Order: sequence, then C-alpha cells, then structure tokens
Amino acid sequence: MSDERVWWRDAVLYQIYVRSFADANGDGHGDLPGIRSKLDYLEWLGVDAIWLTPINPSPNADWGYDVSDFYGVHPDYGTLDDLDALVADAGVREIKVLIDLVPNHTSSAHPWFSDPAKRDWYVWADKPNNWRSAFGGPAWTKHPDVGRYYLHNFLPEQPDLNWWSDGVRKEFEETLRFWFDRGIAGFRIDVAHALIKDEQLRDNPIVGKAKESREERVYNMNRPEVHEIYRRWRRIARDYDPERVLLGETWVPNLAELAKYYGGDDELHLPMIFPFTLAQLDAAELSEIVEGTVQAFPAEAWPVWCGSNHDIVRFPTRWCGGDEAKIRCALMLLLGLRGTPILYYGDELGMEQVEIPASEQLDTAHSRDGARTPMPWTPTADHEWWIRHGDLTRNVEDMRGDETSTLWFTRELLAARREFAQTMTTLDTPEGVWAWRRGESAVVAVNLGEQSAAVRGVQGRIRLGTRGARGGESIDGTLQLGPWEGAVVLPQ
Ligand code: NOJ
Repeated sequence: MSDERVWWRDAVLYQIYVRSFADANGDGHGDLPGIRSKLDYLEWLGVDAIWLTPINPSPNADWGYDVSDFYGVHPDYGTLDDLDALVADAGVREIKVLIDLVPNHTSSAHPWFSDPAKRDWYVWADKPNNWRSAFGGPAWTKHPDVGRYYLHNFLPEQPDLNWWSDGVRKEFEETLRFWFDRGIAGFRIDVAHALIKDEQLRDNPIVGKAKESREERVYNMNRPEVHEIYRRWRRIARDYDPERVLLGETWVPNLAELAKYYGGDDELHLPMIFPFTLAQLDAAELSEIVEGTVQAFPAEAWPVWCGSNHDIVRFPTRWCGGDEAKIRCALMLLLGLRGTPILYYGDELGMEQVEIPASEQLDTAHSRDGARTPMPWTPTADHEWWIRHGDLTRNVEDMRGDETSTLWFTRELLAARREFAQTMTTLDTPEGVWAWRRGESAVVAVNLGEQSAAVRGVQGRIRLGTRGARGGESIDGTLQLGPWEGAVVLPQ
C-alpha cells in the first residue's frame, strides 16, 4: 500500500530535542553520536523518521533557534561528519532524518547581521510600528551602530530576515540544496507562516478594550506573499528522489487559512495543525477539528498531528494529568487518526512535564524547560545533564523489560497502524466516545468519558486495547468500552 514517493503519509515522525536525547561523550548534553547510538531503539520502536531540533551553531539565546551559521553543526552536537554518519546509519534501518530550518530570523551574532553589504537582508525602520514580540515587549530594538530600529518577532538576539530581499531568497535556496544533497529527507520549517512582513510595515490592529485589548497579528504574520516562497521551495524539494518533505510550523488558527499552506499540492506537504494540539482531550472538540480539516483541506492533502513539542506542556501532563488510562487513549487516537503523527521524544513512555525551579530555568524567554528534560533511559541518572531529570519511574530500561508498559503499548500501536488504509470514516458514537473506521474494516475507538459506552457496527478482533487484557477478544457488532478505554479492532 505504501508508496515510496509519499513515504511520509504512512510514517511516524519522532521529534528529538537534540540537547536532551542521548549524550555520547558524557559532557552533559545530547549530541549526534548519541542519537546514532539510539537508532536500535528507534528501529525497535518502529518510527520511520526523526526530526532533529536545530543542529546549527548558535549562541543559544533561544536554544538553537538563533542560528549563527546555517551550514554548520553546533560543536556541542558534533560535526558534519557525525551528521553524515547518522544519516547513513539511520538509512540502513530505513529511518529518514529531517532537520529544523530557522529561516525567519538569524542570531544577532550571525556575520550577516554585522555586514554593511547585507543591511537589506534584515527589516529596518526609523520609527518602530506597534508590533510586539512573541516573547513580550516591543518587536523593535535600536541598533547602536546603524542608528535605526531592527525587527525581531522573538528575542532582540533574533533579528528577523527581510524576505523581500532576493539575496535572502537565493541564500536559503542554496541552504535547502546543501542539506538535501547530504541526504536530509526534509525540513521542519520554524515559524513557517511568518517569513514575509507587510512591505509597508503597517501597524497591527488592536482589538478589544482596555485590559482585554490585544494585537491582531495581521501584518507581521501569515501574509499572502509567503506562499510564493513555498511554491519555490517545493519545486526544489521535487528535484530530489525521494522528494524532500516540507513540514511547516504554521501557527494559523483558521483552518481555511492554514489549508493555503498546502496550496494545490505545490507548497508544504505537512502544515502543522495547532488547533488540534492545543485543544482539550475531549471527543467532541477534537473530532470537530479533525472534521474541520477534512472540510478545509483539499481531498488529496494529508494532515499531521502532534500532542507534545518543545514549546508546550507535554500531553501526558496537559491532556492527561499523568493518568495512565488517559495517556493510552491519547496515544491511541494520535497514532490511529488518518494522518502523519509526530511523537515527541518520551511520548512513547508517557513522559511528563517536569517542574523546573525558577532558579534553574534556562529558557528565560518562555519557561519551556519542563518539556525539554533529558530522555529517561535508565532508572537512575547516569550523569549530570544541562538540565535536571524529571521523575525517572517511567524510563526506557524498565519499560522495555515489561511488555505491559506504555512503551510496549506505543510500539504495538505503531505496528497496528501499518495495517490501516489511508481513508477514515467517523462512526456514530455516544457522547464522550470518538471512533472511526480506517479503510473498510479496521476500527479505532476511544472513550474519553467517565461513563461506559457501546460502539455499534464493529466486527473483528481486538488487536490492541488500552487495557492490555482485551487483546484477541472477538467483537461481533458491539464494542463495549469502559471509562477512558480504547481499542483497535481489525478484521478477524
Ligand atoms: C518556534 C520554535 O519552536 C521555538 O522554540 C522558538 O523559540 C521560536 N520558533 C523562535 O524561533
């Protein structure tokens, strides 16, 4: 069924926060050889591709999202040779490697920013407009040497590039090819919806009154001209075999607007759907968003779903409050929907958000450290990391030795989803329950409510239940589910 040209449709992507995943040289932060040493684990789990958070050199004002060289590897993580070795070893296991690309801004330490010949590569104004930084405060800072204000939609150390400049466009087309030529299977594009700013730098409208008032980001984000950039990038991606994949960080709440990033199958392959990620773990709310994407996206488009990432509270905490039954239901729906799921490292263990004391916080802009703690490989920490570990009860070593664990459950889900066809039809269900058919006969059903419930029209055998004991049970018409219980039913 799977077609190598569109391998990403049936794939499970696994997001690795490189600094926290695996540390080969014991210096306290993760690195590329560390990831390479865990490929056996990733193959055993069954993921198809990994997405690495930025690997480029960076002064780390925003932990890698302030790039000072788009063609290099941060010395903390290794070298280009280490990357090549990782791509090669992953390839042997049929695991593809995607990396983060941060084209909206550079680090203020990037040589371009201090090069007078590249002034027009950044956005300047004599008088700031009313735009605010996504991290708080004005989005403009006066440059002491230039005597003008430069734009930064994030930290002052992250000046925004001027995407009206041909020089910037040409440079990034080269960057794309540089990594694609090295065998990188695609990019996760940071702030993909915001590259182009209003050419006249008009003030954003302020809506609401007094304390309730807020800026509507209509002139510094989601501008219509951004689509031309992705049409161009898609043509570049198509020059490669297999075609390289463009996964966009598209914070666009309106689904019809979001669909434009897919274009006519000529822009991003996978624009991320944040209304889903930020919704409650609620059957009605989630199914409405999923149905909404079906309506808004062209029929041939393909959605991408995730519950956690490095910017938000991990879903086992945010959605599930650490409750095992809920964590399993969330994993089942994430991996059972039509679409490409992204697992954030540790999701497969049900890894929770970690409370980081204020005195230890490193992500001063946004306090996101709690989602970025070291991967718990063992029941006790082997050495000091750049950031503290959370509770190590859920760890790979113990869970791998226990076939009833969340880790095995996730692995079984990954195996089961290989048997799904690419279509999805929602079933009629009682309140609190969400169920759908994949293809003609496979059914995924989750009861996200406190009452037991029955799903009718289900035939087959339970391949996998959130309560382990039900595997193999035969279902003839009605699937009974207890509170916070889910099942994948396949034909007999
Ligand atoms: C989105 C990234 O995911 C986040 O970590 C970063 O701070 C901002 N973009 C700015 O690059």
